[in-house]
Amino acid sequence: MEKNFKRTLVTCALPYANGPVHIGHLAGVYVPADIYVRYLRMKGNDVLFICGSDEHGVPITIKARANGVTPQDIVDKYHGIIKDSFLRLGINFDIYSRTTSEVHHKNASGFFRELYDKGEFITKESEQYYDPEAKTFLADRYIVGTCPKCGNPNAYGDQCEKCGSTLSPEELIDPKSKLSGAQPVKKKTSHWYLPLDRFEPWLREWILENHKEWRTNVYGQCKSWLDGGLQPRAVSRDLDWGVPVPVEGAEGKVLYVWFDAPIGYISNTQELLPESWEKWWKDEDTRLIHFIGKDNIVFHCIVFPSMLKARGGYILPDNVPSNEFLNLESDKISTSRNWAVWLNEYVDEFPGQEDTLRYVLCANAPETKDNDFTWKDFQQRNNSELVAILGNFVNRAVVLTQKYFGGKVPANLKPEAIDAEALGQIPELRRSLEANLEGFHFREALKDAMNIARIGNKYISDTEPWKVAKTDMDRTASILYTSLQICASLSIAFEPFTPFSAEKLRGILNVGLEAGHDHRAGEGEPTVNFFKPGESRALHTIPSGQSSGPGRVHSRFAAAEYGLSPEAVPEAPVFSWDDLGKSDLLPVGHQLGEAVLLFSKIEDNVIEAQIEKLNATKAANEAAAKAAEAEEAAHKVEPQKPEVTFEDFGAMDIRVAEVLAAERVPKTDKLLKLTIDTGIDKRTIVSGIAEFYSPEDMLGKKICVLANLKPRMIRGIESKGMILMAKQGDGTMRLVTPSEAVANGAVIG
Ligand code: MF3
Ligand code: ZN
Repeated sequence: MEKNFKRTLVTCALPYANGPVHIGHLAGVYVPADIYVRYLRMKGNDVLFICGSDEHGVPITIKARANGVTPQDIVDKYHGIIKDSFLRLGINFDIYSRTTSEVHHKNASGFFRELYDKGEFITKESEQYYDPEAKTFLADRYIVGTCPKCGNPNAYGDQCEKCGSTLSPEELIDPKSKLSGAQPVKKKTSHWYLPLDRFEPWLREWILENHKEWRTNVYGQCKSWLDGGLQPRAVSRDLDWGVPVPVEGAEGKVLYVWFDAPIGYISNTQELLPESWEKWWKDEDTRLIHFIGKDNIVFHCIVFPSMLKARGGYILPDNVPSNEFLNLESDKISTSRNWAVWLNEYVDEFPGQEDTLRYVLCANAPETKDNDFTWKDFQQRNNSELVAILGNFVNRAVVLTQKYFGGKVPANLKPEAIDAEALGQIPELRRSLEANLEGFHFREALKDAMNIARIGNKYISDTEPWKVAKTDMDRTASILYTSLQICASLSIAFEPFTPFSAEKLRGILNVGLEAGHDHRAGEGEPTVNFFKPGESRALHTIPSGQSSGPGRVHSRFAAAEYGLSPEAVPEAPVFSWDDLGKSDLLPVGHQLGEAVLLFSKIEDNVIEAQIEKLNATKAANEAAAKAAEAEEAAHKVEPQKPEVTFEDFGAMDIRVAEVLAAERVPKTDKLLKLTIDTGIDKRTIVSGIAEFYSPEDMLGKKICVLANLKPRMIRGIESKGMILMAKQGDGTMRLVTPSEAVANGAVIG
């Protein structure tokens, strides 16, 4: 079944441009995809890495409305933030475009039209909620009402965020339009549907028979969808934000966001490579890989492939590595509750420590089950793995070489068995690392890379060159020679995972790396990037067609071969992935660069500040929840009492009175003694309202009293009648007072 592909197209789920990207997105999709792409490129594969913002859909319109801006304003803002922060984390897409682009609108529209003309859609009439005041159909999210399960008065038509139930607008009690507050009405509307049921037999064979190698979570979800029976899916919506449906009579309708977004992968490829995009999407020799989160599985494994199949001539994904979810401090990451670590904030707050986040998210990636990110674990992995193992080893090797050998790689003058033993373990780790990367097991792959550092760290601790140097310089030379060779392997192995530090390490070692082709320059043949020692920018790009093999160009010789001037090519060794594990990467006499620290320790106060930030979020959320609850309670109304007759009511003498005097009843918290003018007499009433009104509040107030209530003795005072109060859901009481001037004694009825 293994096929030899000529090139690999890697896509990452297009993030919604209605908020920044957070660590959950990164751990699930973008960090593993970037690792994979870097690795394949180092191996010399031709890889195209595509992403962009998903800028349509209802939540974006809701956010815009809430902020009093246009949807375009929202997506402009977040597209910029997301694009910039990916770049700052070293996630180097060949293109990061957007679904509001002209190219995409044209392409998505054309895609729909093509299926439409081929008769691939069916139309169906259905009843949808409509806002008669705003004169528009309402997406489920635009309908709010009371949750039938938990009583939350602010549940949405698709779900209740309080109890988490999935709802339909029909289930809401007292539904209201979010736009106008009007009660929505049902109205007929017609939409286009992709009849997925037609694709079922084909999907069963394609996935269940031919892709048994997909991750079990992916395969399992597909199987349960297929076993449940597929239904036609609407591909249009009544909405004014999106790609207009390119059919006559479809005014006010746009493509459903999940129809247009995956087409965005194709559009963005077209935008980058207008001449050559087709080979990436239509040539059977291209291997297509979608990196996604688990909530996207059905769209990427069932819906989008069916769309491509219906269109015809397109390749289908060869694999769809999908991750589970990452939690934050044991709580579900949530954009609406602001419970997240946002990438744009991280790169601002941790400059120079981008790799720590990449490392921790990969080490903790939720590959087979949901996982938890904690700041303590983040600190621990940085300090006791990156700093104490990788950084410490490199630093000892380099600093001792500076000290004893003037920073030049010493000769291997006195080798011992332990040297070969240490170096001898690396090729095996490399094989495991490759197998894990190729099998999408990134956590395990990272462990393999880290084990190379562990070997180095243990080797240098066991051999103690700082002690040996006192008696045996020849042996010291061998130990440092060996250590530096391990450092060289590390500079290759860590490139996919922690590219900033790998680059730094290459600066320290004064070496270069062939990091392979990218297509960021857009049009034209793929190029081979030479990396100048210590720099991530390509020093030269050479058309790869001229190279001796995919991505294999060797420095000095390459210069002559390709007619470059020798000065233009680094003096120092330039490694490629295939050098990983070799025991003679750094030649004797090679001058090392400056010894700088690869990683720095993260102090407790930094972590405490982050935890503090989360605690503040938690407190704000709790306060908001309390306020919402109080609001809810205040509006809770008692059910109606049993029926009474007109006579029952008429028996009550209710009238307007005025408070002439008021004082607290001594030794009580709740009672006021009032002297009132009822129009017929002046009398005393004792009333339990001191919690809500002071005697001063009451003085001169017009009130309503039940005058013919049988007198009662309260605390030794005879109370004649009762003051009418309105009691609210939360127990608070307010006086009932006439809203206009009314004479004392006026009868209410
Ligand atoms: N925006 C979607 C999400 O964040 C992903 C879209 S992936 C695409 O869940 F394939 F539709 F582009
Ligand atoms: Zn609920």
